[in-house]
Amino acid sequence: MKAAIFVGPEQPLAIEDVTPNPPGPRDVVVRVAASGVCHSDLSIVHGYVPLPPPCVLGHEGAGTVESVGADVRKVQPGDRVIASFVPACGQCWYCMHEKTNLCENMFAASMTPRVTLADGRIASCMTGLGTFAEAMTIDETSVVKVDTDLPDEQLALIGCGVTTGVGAALNTARVEPGSSVAVIGCGGVGNAVIQGARIAGAARIFAVDPVEMKRKTAEQLGATDLVDPADGDPIAQVQALTGGRGTDYAFEVIGLPETIVQAYNTARRGGTVVVVGMPRMDAQVTLPGWQLFSDEKRLLGCVYGSAQVQRDFPRFIGLVETGRLDLGTMVSRRIALDEVNDAFRAMEAGEVIRSVIV
Ligand code: APR
Ligand code: ZN
Repeated sequence: MKAAIFVGPEQPLAIEDVTPNPPGPRDVVVRVAASGVCHSDLSIVHGYVPLPPPCVLGHEGAGTVESVGADVRKVQPGDRVIASFVPACGQCWYCMHEKTNLCENMFAASMTPRVTLADGRIASCMTGLGTFAEAMTIDETSVVKVDTDLPDEQLALIGCGVTTGVGAALNTARVEPGSSVAVIGCGGVGNAVIQGARIAGAARIFAVDPVEMKRKTAEQLGATDLVDPADGDPIAQVQALTGGRGTDYAFEVIGLPETIVQAYNTARRGGTVVVVGMPRMDAQVTLPGWQLFSDEKRLLGCVYGSAQVQRDFPRFIGLVETGRLDLGTMVSRRIALDEVNDAFRAMEAGEVIRSVIV
């Protein structure tokens, strides 16, 4: 089968024919129907997170179960599934404490050898998935069965960006009705945060992004105020519109130290700051010590939207089916697997919210 392989930092993904390794008794083989191209995939290509090559990239995908190992109980052939990029083993301390997004098996899943390349080398798959392929062999703890008629491309987005963004608003921050929210970075994940804030009933949603198309999309998806950093310091722009206080919530959805500090300074005293973006692994963030104490802000990390995937994937599907969550607008381009490198280019050029491989 064809797969897009990470072969080393700053090199284009190699589109190769690979042979899936034999599945184990707890493995599920999923025919990939759609896979979103997320900024985290690009961060791997840039070497921001050290991942040993060769590795099949892609962690945002949905498809249909093709076959299951002898011990698999959760799904059967023909089931529609969304892949979860953090497994939910159900047995570790975090899973036992309703924190499956922090499941201790994540590292082991991402290190499992899954395919053999034409030259005999063995490759693992990003986060244990590897959605940039025609099929993937994944542990049953990484699949969530879904019962819906929604298009594959929309289900794929629930696998990462939508769950991360909507979950950041609903689960991590628990945005309150009538509140004010700033979202810094309005790509695929940021626009999902905006939708989550709208669903939670936020009164004002400030969308901060230098790219006009991103701001326009943000407006379509629920932002009430659009902030272009080119018009001046975004913190001052938001403060001017919030009585000088800043917002009740500020989300950073890029992954840069400077915008994390910006989000911190955009939230009002006593407000909530959520770091949704994935910084490079060696990044450091410097915050003002006095304000950290005296402004009493809540600074929250956010992994996978604090989502409990077995609960939240069906929950988000329900929101899409009833028209409250718009995923159609978030799919900018449908592409073939061998166009994935161009999708990275389009992402960096600010041309798309999401490209989806179908
Ligand atoms: N201020 C505001 N917005 C910015 C800035 C800035 N200084 N710099 C870049 N942006 C915007 C880009 O214009 C883009 O719209 O941030 C957005 C990032 O969006 P995408 O590239 O689509 O990335 P996305 O897939 O949404 O991921 C965002 O979340 O899951 C993590 O690893 C992922 O860290 C990444 C983040
Ligand atoms: Zn992602």
